Amino acid sequence: MADDKKIIFSMVGVSKTIQQTQKQVLKNIYLSFFYGAKIGIIGLNGSGKSTLLKIIAGLDQSYQGNVVFAPGYSVGYLPQEPQLDDDKTVCQVVEEGVQYIVDALAEYEEINNKFGLPEYYENEDKMN
Ligand SMILES: Nc1ncnc2c1ncn2[C@@H]1O[C@H](COP(=O)(O)OP(=O)(O)O)[C@@H](O)[C@H]1O
Ligand SMILES: [Mg+2]
Repeated sequence: MADDKKIIFSMVGVSKTIQQTQKQVLKNIYLSFFYGAKIGIIGLNGSGKSTLLKIIAGLDQSYQGNVVFAPGYSVGYLPQEPQLDDDKTVCQVVEEGVQYIVDALAEYEEINNKFGLPEYYENEDKMN
């Protein structure tokens, strides 16, 4: 079977009731994702989109019904409101995510500075 005809994820009769409030948020959901599909979930505020995604991501395991991944597939989840480290500035958090670029810039600066030193520009080996 071609990969794009392959179902890699299914929800089978999934329901969820919030324990504290006894509010039913999801009721008997059936859905399947084909490999490579790009899917959006739309709905009013409070209609249960985030709840559904947390169940798909495996972060919420208190539901009725079944969630099935095809063997060899897993899920990645980018939360709407990520937990950031309180001890860091926003800039530090962003830099951490692009650390390889920060490192490359630091290395570039270091090499650039050496070009200006006689110790380097007067010594072919060091220049190389
Ligand atoms: N931890 C919770 N405690 C109480 N109610 C919740 C909780 N999580 C979600 N709900 C309720 O479940 C419903 C769906 O919420 P949610 O999945 O966040 O909706 P959406 O992402 O579509 O805006 C809302 O009515 C919300 O108030
Ligand atoms: Mg939401």
